[in-house]
Amino acid sequence: MTQSWSSGYVADIAYLEGFYVQQSPARMVLACLFGNVEADLPEPDDPVCYLELGCGVGIGALVTAAANPGWQVTAIDYNPAHIAAGAGLARAARLDNIRFIEADLAQLATSSQADLIPQADFVTMHGLWSWVSNEVRSGIVRLLAAKTRPGGVVHLSYNALPGWQGAFGMQRLIYEAGIRSDGRSDAQAEAGLKLARDLKAVGSQYLNESSITRDLLDSTVGLQAEYLSHEYMSAHWAPAFHADVAAALAGAKLDWVSSVNPMENFPELMLTPEQREVMARYKDPLLRELIKDMCLPRQLRHDVFVRGARRMHNEARDEALCRLTVTPIVSPGELQTKIRVPAGMAEVGDTLKDMMAAAMRGRARVGDLMARGGERKNPAELLSILVGSHQCQIATRSDGPQPDSANRLNRVFGSRIHSIVDDQTVGGLASSRLGTGLTAPPLLQFITARMLGGEREDHADAWIKALSADVIPEKHDTVRKVVHTAIEQRLPIMRHLGIVP
Ligand SMILES: C[S@@+](CC[C@H](N)C(=O)[O-])C[C@H]1O[C@@H](n2cnc3c(N)ncnc32)[C@H](O)[C@@H]1O
Repeated sequence: MTQSWSSGYVADIAYLEGFYVQQSPARMVLACLFGNVEADLPEPDDPVCYLELGCGVGIGALVTAAANPGWQVTAIDYNPAHIAAGAGLARAARLDNIRFIEADLAQLATSSQADLIPQADFVTMHGLWSWVSNEVRSGIVRLLAAKTRPGGVVHLSYNALPGWQGAFGMQRLIYEAGIRSDGRSDAQAEAGLKLARDLKAVGSQYLNESSITRDLLDSTVGLQAEYLSHEYMSAHWAPAFHADVAAALAGAKLDWVSSVNPMENFPELMLTPEQREVMARYKDPLLRELIKDMCLPRQLRHDVFVRGARRMHNEARDEALCRLTVTPIVSPGELQTKIRVPAGMAEVGDTLKDMMAAAMRGRARVGDLMARGGERKNPAELLSILVGSHQCQIATRSDGPQPDSANRLNRVFGSRIHSIVDDQTVGGLASSRLGTGLTAPPLLQFITARMLGGEREDHADAWIKALSADVIPEKHDTVRKVVHTAIEQRLPIMRHLGIVP
């Protein structure tokens, strides 16, 4: 059920709150360097402007503002329920460097509200582009043209083709059956999905013949209603080819650079040797990306664009990568050196293994890790594996205590957690040392708030009691176990990042 003002996008049920590290400037800068394009990693006190379009409740924008007190963050969405929730969290955490603006992106660039938006160094849009109408997409390009400063970096995620190609009919079926059903968009999505599942069960040729529809339908079981309605119930659902997105953003003088998911930029990790051989016949980056998209099951792309790419040679690029600092986000005992990639399982060699083990011991300059490798000089490979496998994040230079803003937001997040039963939410915790957030489930948010309130690990029994309130007695042991595991494995990391005292 769409609202009169929502132009076919779902607006009767709020979208899920979520934190996605791909939206962080650190990841955008890394993507630029991987694509041989100059970009500087900003520090938390630098005068940086960060803009999020289609922000939803704005968890990522809030984390960004709280972790970086010097930055000015602007978060835009046309759904007043989202803006009210995000602005409420900002008020509760007393963040004074974030502004939530309720505006329709179709018209924003030409309205007087545009005057409120500063020229941005970093722009991000997650889950927006391939769900909105052509009119909204044109409005986004006009806004990017006006509000991305020269050299500014833009992150954009979207449903990609041909990854979603086989599912066009399925989305249409869910949508058509949904809009003919009563109730809110979540009930409509459920009604549409029920029809799709029923048809599959009685032998619908289309729904049974492709693995994508089979897998997608199976994977929708148990997913949150908010996700399903926003994914499938938009009137304008339109997965896109990478080349078409690049052509559209060229209208804002934006050049495509690379993927924000580090490993996706390394054919060695993504393609088989035979596939690489075919791709090697071509130099054009857009055609090479299309070849990659033909070989990979890539359904959601996370692309990075720059307004005015300053190209660098490999040598300068490697020097810039070596100047970066990484910090572990898993404990040393959890180090994985066998990594699942689309081309199979990648087992890293001994030199790389040694560098990775060193990275697990604490903050380290990439150049210092590289020095362990003797003659070996490929910081891009090391970084793509460390960051791409979610074992390290890029760190800022600041090694001091957390700013009060980050502590306040983390307390606000954690004080809302009373249960860990339904923990599908991808939460975050602000960390100034990361210049962004750490992905954190509700349990870690809960523990953080308690510790920022003065409690320590020896309060674990009280935490377990509080979190067991809605848990059946037979499962209390499980709660005890997960709390103790979090204390043993996650607390040292969170201390190291300055998130808890
Ligand atoms: C799938 S949600 C993604 C939210 C958030 N970026 C995230 O990843 O959690 C898409 C968002 O775009 C917003 N949106 C859709 N059409 C819009 C428009 N024309 N103008 C402004 N926001 C819009 C929706 O309200 C919704 O919050």
